[in-house]
Amino acid sequence: MLKIAVLVSGGGTNLQAIIDSIADGRITDTEIKVVISNNPKAKALERAAKAGIEAVCISPKQYADRELFNDALLEAVNARGVDLIVLAGFMVVVPEKMIKAYRNRMINIHPSLIPSFCGTGYYGLHVHEAALKRGVKISGATVHFVDEGTDTGPIIMQKPVEVRPDDTPEVLQRRIMEQAEWQIMPKVIDLIAHDKVILLELHAVRADGVLEGAPIFHVLPEVKAELAFLTHTVEIMQDMEAVCCIQFLAARVHVVQTG
Ligand code: GRF
Repeated sequence: MLKIAVLVSGGGTNLQAIIDSIADGRITDTEIKVVISNNPKAKALERAAKAGIEAVCISPKQYADRELFNDALLEAVNARGVDLIVLAGFMVVVPEKMIKAYRNRMINIHPSLIPSFCGTGYYGLHVHEAALKRGVKISGATVHFVDEGTDTGPIIMQKPVEVRPDDTPEVLQRRIMEQAEWQIMPKVIDLIAHDKVILLELHAVRADGVLEGAPIFHVLPEVKAELAFLTHTVEIMQDMEAVCCIQFLAARVHVVQTG
């Protein structure tokens, strides 16, 4: 059973998609242990309570400084023993300590095709305003792992959505939610619950075998069955003549380190 915490700040439609997907079997072997919001007025908290899920508000305003808030947030997640943190519209800078503690075990959804229209300042309607202003014909959504940057973590899954000539930011936002976000977030959670997400850590290797520079991360989603996954991955890596080692770094996400 994959135990998840969902962190939210607002409407909670992505949370609702996860709740509904668990109820109708699109996500299996997964339990939402807790929903945490920084905003006491978030509709997401009501959605959680209605579904019988523990709903907690941890607001920075309740704490004397940011450090205490960060500690309380991390402690709240740790106390529930969760395998995966899901950021579903969480408008808070995630504490570094939390990123470290949940590396490869924290995912986020962003309403564009990363690397377009992402990073600092690209949140909410700003993302869709920028997409319309640039005149793109396709936008979409991305689920990715969370690292220290803003929307920079390894990409797990993306889905494109058509942009229409008469779109407003609101209309485009809604279409991207319906056609992409509410589909791919539940799909990724189900894949992680079934050990089907593999993170490849690719290093350049010097002639003497020493790993060089910063690694590049790539995700293979939807890799079938555990033994098959190892064989399959090793085959891919052998094509690249570059197997270093294979290891499990996280509870549910297989990290394959290669040269
Ligand atoms: C979504 O557009 C999501 O991609 C972004 O924040 C929004 C949250 O919406 N990260 P909701 O609270 O799930 O309705």
